[in-house]
Amino acid sequence: MKPHTLTLHEPVLLADVLQVLAPKSGDTYLDLTAGYGGHAAAIADMTHGEVTLVDRDQNAVDELTKKFTQAAVLHQDFLAACQKLTKENRQFDLILADLGVSSPHLNNAERGFSILADGPLDMRMDPGQELTAHQVVNTWSEAQLTEILRTYGEEPKAAQIARLVVQARPLETTTQLAAVAAKAWPGHSRVHPATRTFQAIRIAVNDELGQLAQALPLMMGLLAPGGRLAIISFHSLEDRLVKQFLKEQAGDAYDAPLQLLTKRPLVASATEVISNPRARSAKLRAAVKK
Ligand SMILES: C[S@@+](CC[C@H](N)C(=O)[O-])C[C@H]1O[C@@H](n2cnc3c(N)ncnc32)[C@H](O)[C@@H]1O
Repeated sequence: MKPHTLTLHEPVLLADVLQVLAPKSGDTYLDLTAGYGGHAAAIADMTHGEVTLVDRDQNAVDELTKKFTQAAVLHQDFLAACQKLTKENRQFDLILADLGVSSPHLNNAERGFSILADGPLDMRMDPGQELTAHQVVNTWSEAQLTEILRTYGEEPKAAQIARLVVQARPLETTTQLAAVAAKAWPGHSRVHPATRTFQAIRIAVNDELGQLAQALPLMMGLLAPGGRLAIISFHSLEDRLVKQFLKEQAGDAYDAPLQLLTKRPLVASATEVISNPRARSAKLRAAVKK
């Protein structure tokens, strides 16, 4: 059995990330979602090169700054970071984006991401940002709520849950929201009935798909020739964006800019899922720039 670890966040698919990125001495490395630096530490140990770490969460940035004294640590969302680095004409041999939330986000009820632990309706990855889950839940129209539940949550009962939410206002806490969403799904289900509602609101609060869709083309310019890009996604909407983008860039034309390193996404082994349940839905796709 794996010994108990005090790591704040266990990196997912680490061996696969190292296999596809194949870091070598002197490589420059950009981590767009550095979090608590699990992937970054393993990669930096192999490259001994320039390291640039990005995260929109101040807690993560504080940990990264302590842990990586030689790295450039940027407290920004990755779209803003890609725009800044593009303006500076920077290029990197290795780029990693391990999307979504970290374990401290999910485990700290105060951050408002947890369905089961009671906390405020927050869900901001960057607590400095204005828009919160509280605003979405309490001020967006029923039509807007239906739309995000349908598109970001892929929730079959989107309209019913949006109506229940509007009727139950004001809602203050995560468990209140979870209880309202659960009313649309009486009886037992394998996943918590509010899972899709929480996913939808979290994606809306953090503009997760907008960030990814706009940053992907910039990542192409930030990759040096021969450079490798790896992206880990945690839900089908993100994975669809990544898959389509990589497929377009690695098309059949002889001058296609990318070559795929993963024809199918790499996923976690049963052993990894047992020791790190967050890895259950992780999908890794990677490509190399020609
Ligand atoms: C899954 S964790 C990354 C964990 C990291 N690979 C590690 O090994 O510790 C995702 C991190 O990305 C950050 N994040 C998510 N979306 C972001 C975005 N659009 N811009 C910047 N950071 C983002 C989150 O705050 C979180 O810390």
